[in-house]
Amino acid sequence: MRYDVRKVRAGYPALADGYAYLDGAAGTQVPQSVIDAIVAAYRAGLGNQGGTFPASGRSDAIVAECRNAVADLVGGDPAGVVLGPNMTTLTYRFATTLAADWAAGDEIVVSRLDHDANLRPWVQAAQRAGAVVRWAEVDLSTGELPVQQYDDLLTARTRLVAVTAASNILGTRPDVAAIAAKAHAAGALTYVDGVHATPHGPVDVAALGADFYATSAYKWSGPHVGAVVADPAVLETLRPAKLLPAPDEIPVRMETGTAPLADLAGVTAAVEHLADLGSAVAGGTRRARVLASMAAVESCEQELFTTLLDGLDAMPHVTTYGRPARRTATVYFRVEGHHPRDVATHLAAHRINVWSGHSYAWELTGALGLRDGGGAVRAGLVHYNDRSDVDRLLDVVAGLAP
Ligand SMILES: Cc1ncc(COP(=O)(O)O)c(C=O)c1O
Repeated sequence: MRYDVRKVRAGYPALADGYAYLDGAAGTQVPQSVIDAIVAAYRAGLGNQGGTFPASGRSDAIVAECRNAVADLVGGDPAGVVLGPNMTTLTYRFATTLAADWAAGDEIVVSRLDHDANLRPWVQAAQRAGAVVRWAEVDLSTGELPVQQYDDLLTARTRLVAVTAASNILGTRPDVAAIAAKAHAAGALTYVDGVHATPHGPVDVAALGADFYATSAYKWSGPHVGAVVADPAVLETLRPAKLLPAPDEIPVRMETGTAPLADLAGVTAAVEHLADLGSAVAGGTRRARVLASMAAVESCEQELFTTLLDGLDAMPHVTTYGRPARRTATVYFRVEGHHPRDVATHLAAHRINVWSGHSYAWELTGALGLRDGGGAVRAGLVHYNDRSDVDRLLDVVAGLAP
């Protein structure tokens, strides 16, 4: 199934500014339907949750609908959807909470492939608990995260395995299900960073074996809201630091303070938007529509990405990093003779948005030997990018040949 990218683009007011938005890995634009949902929430009147009056009831409904929507997006249970300001904040909260139960000599496994947000909170929590940190390494020639190494990394003392579902610079999609199966066999929990993976294809947290799956709505056309989708049974076992009067039931127990209520209405609208990209299954459950839509997104992105990657690889003055077998439509590259930041500035002058630098893949860019030299340029495709975005990037980069 395909979808009409022109129609999709027309729904995004920001895309009318003439720029090629190839910075989706850092954050996406939002469609008018998301903007409308946020405006409508404010216009209708919101109250704090749990009150006796209609505006409060509307807020309760927004939060419940948001949990349902995020659960539909990734195949989770709404009772396990924890909402928060962003993935980093939520991960620090989960790390602190889980580590309260770790003893000196316990172990955790993190990966060098990960964004720092799924690594530093765990490393710092382990240090406080006296737990041992073990590292899964990346095969730097391919950008893969070999699964077999987990046989050596896991022991009877392993409490947690943190791993990404996709690298935010190389696009690598490790075999999370295989890693999670090994982790579970060792009696460890899995915390999967789905921030980069979620916008690029169908997600099924149960199939991944993720006890916790983190995602950020602003990477998939929603507002700046994060979520961790957890197994409710596991959530029940957690005792986070919390205010005494704050609700003690899950998933609210893991949340702090007042939610960004109008933005949560926007999150639901973003899921509806994604679910509607693949129109062939209109009328099915939202989960079914999400799965069909995201499969269509994946195949369109991958087709376009072949043009992008082949085009860059054909240029002798360009080096691309990583050759993973399964990847998102994200490329990390350097242009000979040009600092990555200068390349990004040059592209911006040609109305092309890309990122340069380490993109918080601190360990991986260090291992690749790129971090201190300004990292590399990252260009990524999302569901609203089209052939002209790719052609423009290739033209301008070709023009940088010595
Ligand atoms: C793979 C990955 N993980 C985690 C994060 C952090 O997400 P947040 O900005 O929601 O804290 C990002 C942000 O770019 C990311 O790309």
